[in-house]
Amino acid sequence: MFSIARSVLRPTLARTFAAPASSASVHTLPELPYGYNALEPHISEQIMKLHHQKHHQAYVNGLNAAEEQYAKSDSTKEKIALQSALKFNGGGHINHSLFWKNLAPANEDGGKLADGALKSAIERDFGSFEEFKKKFNATTAAIQGSGWGWLGYNPSTKKLEIVTTANQDPLISHTPILGVDIWEHAFYLQYHNVKADYLSAIWNVVNFKEAENRLTEASK
Ligand SMILES: [Fe+2]
Repeated sequence: MFSIARSVLRPTLARTFAAPASSASVHTLPELPYGYNALEPHISEQIMKLHHQKHHQAYVNGLNAAEEQYAKSDSTKEKIALQSALKFNGGGHINHSLFWKNLAPANEDGGKLADGALKSAIERDFGSFEEFKKKFNATTAAIQGSGWGWLGYNPSTKKLEIVTTANQDPLISHTPILGVDIWEHAFYLQYHNVKADYLSAIWNVVNFKEAENRLTEASK
């Protein structure tokens, strides 16, 4: 079992990650809360299908395999050697499970930041919604290689901050409010090498209602 990672994850992450003690290989691919073509034209059906069915599935499979090996192993050295597979695939599963919920079709809740706690917090911590998006896009565009851009809640300062993580590292220092996948598999088929266009389009399908619920939960 992945006891080390589980112990340091925040409760919302741990719920996504947690498996019953009776079985090591129970992580499954969560269903998308919308259709594969529902985020068009901002994120293509082709990307969504591959991203969900192939990439996320691979993290789930990798995590199950690593946990199974870990549970069977009596060797400390072997268990240490499994840590990177657990981190990479476990992080990939956690991050993508959050990401699908962070998005919503533009003709439903996608892209709409209504008056409320999240909007007020964004305006307090970044000056305005426009300034926030500008800063978020500049910070995440600067990620070298693959990683994630986050709007995170800092439990120490009780403020919203923009942070990034490399590879599939989950966000541990902050509670994730909104995460954006900056791996090329998330945009290349549609936006090619122009990461800025992907980052600009994604705001049309961000589920701010979900983000606000996360903020409310994190601020308790
Ligand atoms: Fe991804």
